[in-house]
Amino acid sequence: MSALLEEATRIAAQFDYPPEQVQRAVKEYIREIDEGLSEEGATLSQIPTFVTSVPNGTEKGLYLAVDLGGTNFRVCSIDLHGNNTFSLTQAKIMIPRELMTSGSSKELFLFLARQIESFLRIHHNEHFEAHLRRMVEAKEEDLFDLGFTFSFPVRQLGINKGTLIRWTKGFDIPDAVGQDVCALLQDAIDELNLPVRVAALVNDTVGTLMARSYTSPGETGTFLGAIFGTGTNGAYVEKLDRVTKMGNIEHSDYDKSTGEMIINAEWGSFDNHLSVLPNTKYDQQLDTDSINPGIQMFEKRVSGMFLGEILRLALLDLHESLGLFKSSTSSNAFVPKSSQIYRQWGIDTSLLSLVEADKTKNFEQIKSALKDHLKIEHASDDDAKSVQIVAHAIAKRAARLGAVAISAILISTGKLQTDDVVDIGVDGSLVEYHPSFSSLLREALREVPEVGAAGDKKIRIGISKDGSGVGAALIALVASKEGTQRPVS
Ligand code: GLC
Repeated sequence: MSALLEEATRIAAQFDYPPEQVQRAVKEYIREIDEGLSEEGATLSQIPTFVTSVPNGTEKGLYLAVDLGGTNFRVCSIDLHGNNTFSLTQAKIMIPRELMTSGSSKELFLFLARQIESFLRIHHNEHFEAHLRRMVEAKEEDLFDLGFTFSFPVRQLGINKGTLIRWTKGFDIPDAVGQDVCALLQDAIDELNLPVRVAALVNDTVGTLMARSYTSPGETGTFLGAIFGTGTNGAYVEKLDRVTKMGNIEHSDYDKSTGEMIINAEWGSFDNHLSVLPNTKYDQQLDTDSINPGIQMFEKRVSGMFLGEILRLALLDLHESLGLFKSSTSSNAFVPKSSQIYRQWGIDTSLLSLVEADKTKNFEQIKSALKDHLKIEHASDDDAKSVQIVAHAIAKRAARLGAVAISAILISTGKLQTDDVVDIGVDGSLVEYHPSFSSLLREALREVPEVGAAGDKKIRIGISKDGSGVGAALIALVASKEGTQRPVS
């Protein structure tokens, strides 16, 4: 093996997360579940969502949904057909960077309301015009019920009321923290006189769970919804009597008849104190240079927004001190100053998927990706292979950490002891595009003794595409049936 490949293998080994560590982390996760269910402000937020039942596929109606949670804002209308199927019309809009970090929350929410307005004009103009004509005596039933998928940590106070705890994933608009985000959106909507009522506030993981439950065949309701995308998080069905902090939370009324409630774990902040999470020098550097050091430590090792950056830091190390892109066989390889390898966030996680997928003998795809993404020409076979070794190790560790969260929830809820199949809906770029992420996650699940090989059959994992839009519509439906109040600011 060449010296370069040896070095790459040594760096990759720093991302090993062996079975004993997985098991230790599962134990810690279970401890943090209990803590999060009993007190506010714990590392694992375990947020009650006030959604107390999951759909069975017979739900019907036309609903609006908007989704704010990453780089894009989505507006959609969803027609639920009542037979496990739906049709969806959507518009996707890039959020201007300046609205994500500076500016004021008012500017951001007015921008969102304007996108809803143009969506309605294009796709539901008749309804929209009719509403404008009737404006004076507008009735509640003329309004579109809208599910608002807002994928940040929110202290939820009711089905359409919740205050922002903190921003994640690169957003930072300080004046929104502590405010009711439904009221912020409703105010902006009202300012533009739109026929829309914000009926439900939804985390994307909860939406994913609901959508999967609506579309998945058979009687079994979905148990867990997880996102492995720009960020990572999960929501699951919990027994109400285990949510002991409920008594201390100020909240509006909700239906207690099912004895269950969906809990938004906000697992991105699992083990912020780093008692069990791995912590290489690359993880440390990423965190120090981030806008929220010490926070979302699990997410920073698992999700799409960060894996590219970990890879960049590791490759830069290999390049600067250990000969990557300058090995003897690639004396021509050249890394121009303008290469993204020198820029923070310069490597997108899609590169990890691409690199993993290359099965060609001479790593043709990796070489052309290095050229396209990083302006690195003439990379040698060893260069390309080194990139693959390191990228694989980073994704593998992420998938194994994902398995920690999932198995801990399955164990803690006693779900594995039931006879039913446990249905899990997942979404996000890593599960959708990374060729090995899901199988690596499965492999790690098997290594948790309580799950074991039996988990292969017992645990059914399926992609829940467009989950957050459809899920938000489903929650808006539940909320409108329960007669939600308009959010008040
Ligand atoms: C971040 C957010 C969380 C969301 C996840 C996936 O972790 O805090 O609310 O569910 O990203 O988008």
